[in-house]
Amino acid sequence: MRGLDAVSFSIQAGELVGVVGPNGAGKSTMLKAMLGLIPTESGKVEYCTCPLHRQLEKVAYISQRSQIDWDYPITVWNVVLMARTRSLGWFRSPGRSTKELVKAALTRVEMFDLRHRRIGELSGGQQQRVFLARALAQQADLFLFDEPFTGVDKKTESIIFSVFEELRSQGKILLISTHEWGQALSQLDRLFLLNQRLIAQGTPQEVMTAENLRQAYGTHIPFHQDFDSTLMC
Ligand SMILES: Nc1ncnc2c1ncn2[C@@H]1O[C@H](COP(=O)(O)OP(=O)(O)OP(=O)(O)O)[C@@H](O)[C@H]1O
Ligand SMILES: [Mg+2]
Repeated sequence: MRGLDAVSFSIQAGELVGVVGPNGAGKSTMLKAMLGLIPTESGKVEYCTCPLHRQLEKVAYISQRSQIDWDYPITVWNVVLMARTRSLGWFRSPGRSTKELVKAALTRVEMFDLRHRRIGELSGGQQQRVFLARALAQQADLFLFDEPFTGVDKKTESIIFSVFEELRSQGKILLISTHEWGQALSQLDRLFLLNQRLIAQGTPQEVMTAENLRQAYGTHIPFHQDFDSTLMC
């Protein structure tokens, strides 16, 4: 059995919030539960006072790299174009404005030149940037990223951060899980420390205390599912 217990938080528009915790802490589970991708026994997730799972068009979600099928024969361009299928429909060809949007997103992450490549032929960092472009093309309000910094080089990390900064200044909500404790943490407005339950939340300085880290990384805590969060617009 897997799950989360006593996870309750709210996030304001324009906040960049990180989720840290050991392997198996429930970071990916939490993001998926927020989207309704896995069932919860209790609790709710609201955005603008309505259930988030009924407004998924407002959410851009990038899953952890290990959970993506990289052999799927699709080009970089089409991966990003897929972000528009909800508004476009599967059978309509993209118009000029959609193509412009896809081009701008790929250019933003410096991947436009590789638009004809298959996604499986890219490096890990390049793949991460393509998925970031897809999130941008979706023009979402909320961005949930599961470990965007894992396995990426400094250039990609810096592109990701500058996109995050832009999104934050546009009043978007960003929730990212990470194992990075360096520069990544210092850029976050707030941090959630998770290990099956929410051990601490606050600024990175408030959260990363020796006692909190001991609780998160040094103790086994049994699973329950109980989940509550509010996302403000
Ligand atoms: N598909 C699955 N089926 C059953 N149990 C799973 C599945 N995915 C994860 N789990 C379990 O749920 C718990 C939480 O896993 P989760 O993937 O959310 O952790 P995480 O914090 O994202 O870890 P990591 O840092 O390794 O990505 C773990 O005990 C894990 O073994
Ligand atoms: Mg995970």
